Amino acid sequence: MTGKVYLIGAGPGDPDLLTMKAHRLLTAADVVLYDRLVGEQIIAMIPETAEKLYVGKAKSLHSLPQEEINALLAVKAKEGKVVVRLKGGDPFIFGRGGEELEELVSEGVPFEVVPGVTAAAGCAAYAGIPLTHRDYAQSVRFLTGHLKDGTTELPWDELVHPAQTLVIYMGLTGLESISQSLIRFGMRPSMPVAIVEKGTSKDQRVFTSTMKDIHQVAIDNEVKSPALLIIGEVVTLQEKLSWFGQ
Ligand SMILES: C[S@@+](CC[C@H](N)C(=O)[O-])C[C@H]1O[C@@H](n2cnc3c(N)ncnc32)[C@H](O)[C@@H]1O
Repeated sequence: MTGKVYLIGAGPGDPDLLTMKAHRLLTAADVVLYDRLVGEQIIAMIPETAEKLYVGKAKSLHSLPQEEINALLAVKAKEGKVVVRLKGGDPFIFGRGGEELEELVSEGVPFEVVPGVTAAAGCAAYAGIPLTHRDYAQSVRFLTGHLKDGTTELPWDELVHPAQTLVIYMGLTGLESISQSLIRFGMRPSMPVAIVEKGTSKDQRVFTSTMKDIHQVAIDNEVKSPALLIIGEVVTLQEKLSWFGQ
């Protein structure tokens, strides 16, 4: 009998942000395939009896090509196993969860999806940046700074908009060109920006600056991935509302 695949979001780092459903399924799994961004404390919750497969991707260092991950999920489920596919954050936000499910559909493998706290929500909360504080923003946009073809080509003119917060995932490598493009398309160079590195973990670091200077701040502080950019007036609240690690 075919087993089942549970596509689970592990949240951004702090193991306490794992949902109860994710925890229940993880601790009952036969096989767990997990990514690079899943924290060590969450990996430690995988039962000893389960087969543990690291399939994670560091940028340009794919330990297993996406197609092989997709196929492996179906193979393991067809062996009758309870398969957990564990991803950082939320599986449907820049997580390729959809691609993996499409393969399962075509292979006739049943599945469920368990949402997780996405990096935008986790980093904003733990940095003290309310993404849609009513005095500053009416909307928030989640974007990726790293497109499938490796470029950073975003709809710049739509992004320069009053009362809008931008959250850019995977924006560290292209930070200089992102800043230059936004300024070229009319964003004021003094627009507040935050970088949250390793958000929600005990190693979290938060840097705030302006659109013009944030690239240099990232260099000076040797900011490393995973890091999230938050751009908008809401960033001015960070100093006042910061609470984590104090
Ligand atoms: C491939 S995306 C995966 C996003 C994930 N599915 C989510 O919902 O958070 C990876 C990017 O998410 C962001 N990210 C994930 N976890 C993070 C964390 N703990 N702190 C800062 N950024 C994080 C970084 O921009 C990183 O490069």
